[in-house]
Amino acid sequence: MSKYTQLIRMLKSMDGKSYKAYKDIRGEYKHEQGFMLFIDHVQGDPFASPSKVTVQIPLAMLNINEDMNENPRRKLALEDFMLRKFAKLLKQYSKNLGTGGSGRFSTDVPGQEIIFRSNSVVKSDYIQLRFYMGLPAFGRRINGKGAVFMFNEAIPSIVRELALTKTDVRELWEHIYVVENAYAIRKYLEEHGYVAFVADGSLLPRESGVSDKPLVSGIPFQSPESLRITIPVPHGESVSGMAIKKGITLITGGGFHGKSTLLSAIAKGIFYHIPGDGREYVVTTYDTLRVRAEDGRKVEKVDISMFINGLPGGKDTVHFSTDNASGSTSQAASIIEAIQAGAKLLLMDEDTCATNFMVRDYRMQRLIPKKYEPITPLIDRIQELYDKFGVSTIMVVGGLGDFLDIADTVIVMEYYEPYDFTDKARQIVKEYPSQRIKEEVPPAKEPLKRFWISKSLSVSKPKVKVPSLDKVIYGKEEITFYGYDMFNTYSQLQFIGGLMQAIGNGKFGTLVDPLELKDILKKVWDEGLWDEILSHIGLKKAYSFAAVRHLDLAVVINRYRRLKASE
Ligand SMILES: Nc1ncnc2c1ncn2[C@@H]1O[C@H](COP(=O)(O)OP(=O)(O)OP(=O)(O)O)[C@@H](O)[C@H]1O
Ligand SMILES: [Mg+2]
Repeated sequence: MSKYTQLIRMLKSMDGKSYKAYKDIRGEYKHEQGFMLFIDHVQGDPFASPSKVTVQIPLAMLNINEDMNENPRRKLALEDFMLRKFAKLLKQYSKNLGTGGSGRFSTDVPGQEIIFRSNSVVKSDYIQLRFYMGLPAFGRRINGKGAVFMFNEAIPSIVRELALTKTDVRELWEHIYVVENAYAIRKYLEEHGYVAFVADGSLLPRESGVSDKPLVSGIPFQSPESLRITIPVPHGESVSGMAIKKGITLITGGGFHGKSTLLSAIAKGIFYHIPGDGREYVVTTYDTLRVRAEDGRKVEKVDISMFINGLPGGKDTVHFSTDNASGSTSQAASIIEAIQAGAKLLLMDEDTCATNFMVRDYRMQRLIPKKYEPITPLIDRIQELYDKFGVSTIMVVGGLGDFLDIADTVIVMEYYEPYDFTDKARQIVKEYPSQRIKEEVPPAKEPLKRFWISKSLSVSKPKVKVPSLDKVIYGKEEITFYGYDMFNTYSQLQFIGGLMQAIGNGKFGTLVDPLELKDILKKVWDEGLWDEILSHIGLKKAYSFAAVRHLDLAVVINRYRRLKASE
């Protein structure tokens, strides 16, 4: 008798017994169809978080051939495609089989982005899919029939139906082509001094503020002639669109004309998108970070002295710490943290910036002499950020005309269409010179290097909860990063929680610099190589983790209220 058949027998005999009896089914089972089932964790009762199960299926059973897994991009597209199909089947076979979550199957369901996830991993000749099951019961009595349905009917059927049909194969190749083309575009940008690209025909607006699906009635993007480049891609015709060079780029135009929408699409350009999303070929370089004002945030020992100096009461701004940052100090700290974590492109939207941090206009300069103004505004540092630290900026500006003086490129949005106004802006600068005087401040110095003290991340009960995409509860502490909309899935934040625990346990040394984690996290981000990091973290069987960048990790850790840093 096969082990799987024994499992079914066992489940039958458990009918009516106390829920605790389920604990005995932990283990691994080979099914006669050829797949393996691993029951990794059994829940304590029907209301507890569901049981954790892994299914391992030979690729040949699923009509997956080697071509489809030939390189890391194909692996990504394949894993993502299979997880989407798997998630649909799990939903289809979910039933209400009793109390609480009885009878439910679920997994990590991807949205518009294609990203490596620990729930779907293709190895040389099999795929490993992780999922959750609500083991069925009526109250605290096992529903044996229900369990037999789940293990004996549902799971084998799901595995069978997971095999790629002809239509699936066609769709999978489309998935692969989109990822490979976007990858080629990103490589091209990196090699030619560009930071971002928006293909002609892209659809940028989203259905609504709460839906990431495309607004199908939206106006497709068309690049201005002067900013258009054409990039060869491996599949289909080459792709043309608007390319943004390194340096300082302004996006401006009237209210409600699509400025923020363009910037958000650029921000999301670090991800691959599914076919039909509208942003398949909106591509941004990897080291991109959104920055904004976030008053109230915690700041721990950040050297913001290039922006802020001489605070009332002589407060130190070389090791600036506060539990309640102001608009300007929060934005200054976020920029310095970004630079120190290795960001090479900052995205800012005037809508969410602190005005007094951005610029001090002529009249204000007259009214309040520099010696009473601790802030050196961004406008007087932005050029240095690029020249000295190689950090480019794309900024949405509606009302701050003084920025025209320092922009390399000026894009104007008019009725959702971009125009290149760089020359016109230069003319205006000449004709109407700003009376504003560049603040006389010493040149910006490299900010003081800082490290996270790993012990400060250690918690006695390392629980990670993710109530929403701008919040993580780590231990007892809630960490918020309002408006940082670079996370697309709860699983990314789960992974960050896992990384924080590992740092807290000293797995990355006693003092940690976010840059040290870049390589290992990039291996997951680019190639889906989970094994190294997961064994480092001590979580070989990680459910529902999704790739993050060290930049994203730094955003969360830097806002953790118990964080301690050192020079
Ligand atoms: N290409 C487009 N086609 C149709 N609608 C669009 C397009 N781009 C943006 N929109 C919609 O237009 C509205 C305004 O866009 P957005 O918020 O980008 O404007 P904005 O220029 O940043 O405005 P403000 O200056 O007031 O901040 C949004 O509802 C957005 O979804
Ligand atoms: Mg806006």
